[in-house]
Amino acid sequence: MYGNDGLLGEVEAAEEALRDAAGRQVSGSEGLEEYFTAVIEADQKIEPRDWMPDSYRKTLIRQIAQHAHSEIIGMQPEGNWISRAPSLKRKAILLAKVQDEAGHGLYLYAAAETLGVSRDELVQMLLEGRQKYSSIFNYPTLTWADVGAIGWLVDGAAIVNQVPLCRCSYGPYARAMIRICKEESFHQRQGYEILHTLAHGTDGQKALAQDSVNRWWYPSLAMFGPPDADSTHSAQSMAWKIKRFSNDELRQRFVDMCVQQAEVLGLTLPDPDLRWNEERQAYDYTQPDYDELKRVISGDGPCNRQRMAHRRGAHAEGAWVREAAAAYAKKRSR
Ligand SMILES: [Fe+2]
Ligand SMILES: [Fe+2]
Repeated sequence: MYGNDGLLGEVEAAEEALRDAAGRQVSGSEGLEEYFTAVIEADQKIEPRDWMPDSYRKTLIRQIAQHAHSEIIGMQPEGNWISRAPSLKRKAILLAKVQDEAGHGLYLYAAAETLGVSRDELVQMLLEGRQKYSSIFNYPTLTWADVGAIGWLVDGAAIVNQVPLCRCSYGPYARAMIRICKEESFHQRQGYEILHTLAHGTDGQKALAQDSVNRWWYPSLAMFGPPDADSTHSAQSMAWKIKRFSNDELRQRFVDMCVQQAEVLGLTLPDPDLRWNEERQAYDYTQPDYDELKRVISGDGPCNRQRMAHRRGAHAEGAWVREAAAAYAKKRSR
């Protein structure tokens, strides 16, 4: 039992809604701004050709770029284990998973480009530290079990965060998210399966799995961002239907999902105060350390410097490939 079938169902429903929306027309609104508002209110999609407020465009560029950067930087912690995977099968699966993340980065850079920025500019902003990526990738992968915990918890949190984005008001982002969520769901299952195997292996393997869940639990909870009371961008993003649920709502949904799954794994979540609250019909849990989150976001996590140094190095080493590809494209167009 994995527990994300419900989430996949939501992805499919969003895909259907997207197709329905394409056939409908929003009418009776004159003026660009009125049209924009009417489209959002009718749950239709804003497309690249449509007028949109500057701040809507900027918010989306920031969010999509940050998301794309996270996919690319997120290849590093797991890439670290490709050469040390415990079997050929595990190695092939992990290789495919890390490649999927590269693909996610590319869909997302392409979605951002529809808003009038170039991928080059966005990559430059990442390299210069002017745009961020998810804080979670600044934690180290110390053991093979971490590949399991990342799949289960980090990809799991990513899905919970991203499923509502399949209904985002901006068409290209919503479409990219549908495709990405389907793949993320597979990532989550592969991580879960690694942990399940370890948790049902020797005592040593079980201890490895437990240690890894202990280390990744709170950083995963922090992936949903600061608590609602301190979240600066949320209200406007909700009104624009870019965001559909608050940080705390999504975090709660993730906790409730994980408790059930941890039981099946036979592992414990490292929170002594985790218990069912009959009144709220949800689990009470300990909040992650938001000061730590702030520190990691501002550059002071265990691996921030290493991740950025690696990305800069890879970008520099790939310069000749980009030049050759551009030269070839130019030649073809002549
Ligand atoms: Fe991804
Ligand atoms: Fe993933």
